[in-house]
Amino acid sequence: MNDFTRTVAQLKDLIDAELMNAAPQIKPHSLYEPIRYFLGIGGKRLRPILLIFSAQAVGGKTDDALDAAVAIELLHNFTLVHDDIMDHDHLRRGQATVHVRWDESVAILAGDGLIGLAYRQLMKLPGQHLTTVCRLFTEGVVEVCEGQAYDKEFEALDDVTLDDYFRMIGKKTGRLITMATEIGAILGGGTEEEIAILTEYGSIIGTAFQIQDDLLDIMQSEEIIGKTYGSDVKAGKKTFLMVKSLETAGSSAWGKLKTLLNTSEITNDQLLEIRTLFDEMQIFKSAEDEIRHYFDTANRVLDKFPHPEATTGLRNFSEMLLNRKS
Ligand code: IPE
Ligand code: IPE
Ligand code: MG
Ligand code: MG
Ligand code: MG
Repeated sequence: MNDFTRTVAQLKDLIDAELMNAAPQIKPHSLYEPIRYFLGIGGKRLRPILLIFSAQAVGGKTDDALDAAVAIELLHNFTLVHDDIMDHDHLRRGQATVHVRWDESVAILAGDGLIGLAYRQLMKLPGQHLTTVCRLFTEGVVEVCEGQAYDKEFEALDDVTLDDYFRMIGKKTGRLITMATEIGAILGGGTEEEIAILTEYGSIIGTAFQIQDDLLDIMQSEEIIGKTYGSDVKAGKKTFLMVKSLETAGSSAWGKLKTLLNTSEITNDQLLEIRTLFDEMQIFKSAEDEIRHYFDTANRVLDKFPHPEATTGLRNFSEMLLNRKS
């Protein structure tokens, strides 16, 4: 383990402990048990770690950022519990999703509870930052919901463009990641220029992160990713892969793909055929090129930082994300 991975592991432990403190083991158990279950089954904790690295990049301390970091992770967990209901997924972080282990009403309420706990954590912020951060956080919640609405609407559409796709993922995924860097920079005491640079950085890696997520859905095994294999294809999601292949409409590969996608129950063998077709259409290559392009751009944004050496943590973080397998 090198110094950076050790730092990340220590931050993760700190955040894990704070999350459990934020969700006490009290009655009613039907609310707190599923919340504690979900918070306890892992997760990469990327958003809070990113928030803390952003605070550090502008000269702040972990303690300045910890409450907001925990708040953003609580909020992220709300989105996942509800997302799994919306996407009909049974597996998350290698374990049963909340609505599968309990039922949908328990999962809806656990998600609602997580939003409340996130705001309770945020209210611990010092007065001078409270209004600004609370406003950003609230706008973020609304925007994630907008993104999730587009994601669902697009399932039924066949004319989603790459522009539509990027707008949708900027909201459903990019927004929380951008919020992490922006809030971190504010709480660390960054200048306006530093806050703007870190906000731009967050928005770019947020986009790259969702394209990777789309790719992993069909490229990675359930054991490693801990999520349902091929869930996006089965749900008709307009992922980067699918929108890119829509661009080749008319080709013979597209014709075959369309036939497979129209099957009522897509089997795992058919998922493998779809994967081969994506490959023939060079879709994986374009996704990988796109991801690399966004990470390169994110690094160039960090070059604008007044003290580039302060961004080492964030650069290592991008590198870690670029190589992620789950
Ligand atoms: C999954 O987020 C949802 C997306 C925005 C793609 P993560 O991949 O960060 O999930 P966890 O928290 O590590 O489980
Ligand atoms: C992630 O979308 C966006 C949110 C959860 C808000 P996905 O539906 O692609 O996330 P995963 O793949 O289930 O983690
Ligand atoms: Mg989803
Ligand atoms: Mg999902
Ligand atoms: Mg996904």
